[in-house]
Amino acid sequence: MKGLILAAGRGTRLRPLTHTRPKPVIRVAGRPILHYGLENLLQAGIEEIGVVVSPETEKDIREALAGYRVRYILQEEPQGLAHAVAVARDFLGQSPFVLYLGDNLFQKGIAHFLQAFTPGVSAVIALVRVENPSQFGVAVLEGERIVRLLEKPKEPPSDLAVAGVYVFTPEVLEVIEGLKPSARGEYEITDAIQGLIDRGKRVVGVEVEGWWKDTGRPADLLDANRLLLEELLPRVEGEVVESQLTGRVVVEKGARVRKSTVIGPAFIGEGAVVEGAYIGPFTSLGPGAKVVRSEVEYSILEDHAVLEDVALRLQESILGVGAQVKSRNGLPRAHRLILGDLSQVELA
Ligand code: TTP
Repeated sequence: MKGLILAAGRGTRLRPLTHTRPKPVIRVAGRPILHYGLENLLQAGIEEIGVVVSPETEKDIREALAGYRVRYILQEEPQGLAHAVAVARDFLGQSPFVLYLGDNLFQKGIAHFLQAFTPGVSAVIALVRVENPSQFGVAVLEGERIVRLLEKPKEPPSDLAVAGVYVFTPEVLEVIEGLKPSARGEYEITDAIQGLIDRGKRVVGVEVEGWWKDTGRPADLLDANRLLLEELLPRVEGEVVESQLTGRVVVEKGARVRKSTVIGPAFIGEGAVVEGAYIGPFTSLGPGAKVVRSEVEYSILEDHAVLEDVALRLQESILGVGAQVKSRNGLPRAHRLILGDLSQVELA
């Protein structure tokens, strides 16, 4: 069994964050999103793992995965999930494989999907019950068998949406070879699965255990951060001086917390600085981030982001790598902003 993680998308819904860095390297609860998928595959006993990257995402993804042994496969353009599988053909060979969307998170991992991959099964599809099925690929089931897949149906036949993990035999590669682009111009994995069904192959659906999160939009990142922090085990390896830590808090090595209040669950990354500050629940600070004389909760500050002397509490916010929010005391009360395309600032 091999693993194939897709990480070559454009991440348009997460702009401006994804103008400069790919979505799967954004940190939630202190770690790049991609780490969770890789760990899921490793925990399921899969060691031969390929990661599909694009010319734009390759460098950052290699950096984020330093230390993991994986093969990188280049998809020149994101022409769809089935296309990404096709470009990995040489890596996959004649092996069955798990296809894992690099921006997906599964609380309970993926091992139980593999258990359903028994002889005679051509594909296992992870399914999840959702409130708004018309925004997803939706499965029509007979028993455990999927008899039809509908892409974003106006009148959904069930509330079972397709989540981002699939197990396939190499048969799917043959189906993909004959695929035509969809109306939106992509080679769709749902069309490939439908192709298997049309050939009479056995395709089974298995419901996700625990929570599942697709980190497509900013609110999803914050929610994923919350869900992962809920499971945090407290650990203090950095320096904590004249401060109060309440609840589950991680302070990584080299981090300094001084004269501050931290209410968990919260993650303070390596080398981060928290001084005269309040860090509220569901907040993650990346390596080298700084919160000085400011308050923040339910937020993500990426590597080396800075929050300094800001009078109002920041919440539901995401600061990208090196982003800075500061106010200069003593100067006339005014805002000075340098914002990239599609940035969002809400001033109370
Ligand atoms: P999507 O979420 O469908 O696409 P995206 O990540 O580019 O985001 P957006 O819709 O906001 O533009 O992709 C799911 C995962 O699959 C994601 O990790 C990127 C990856 N992917 C590829 O590797 N190749 C592709 O051709 C496509 C479409 C996606």
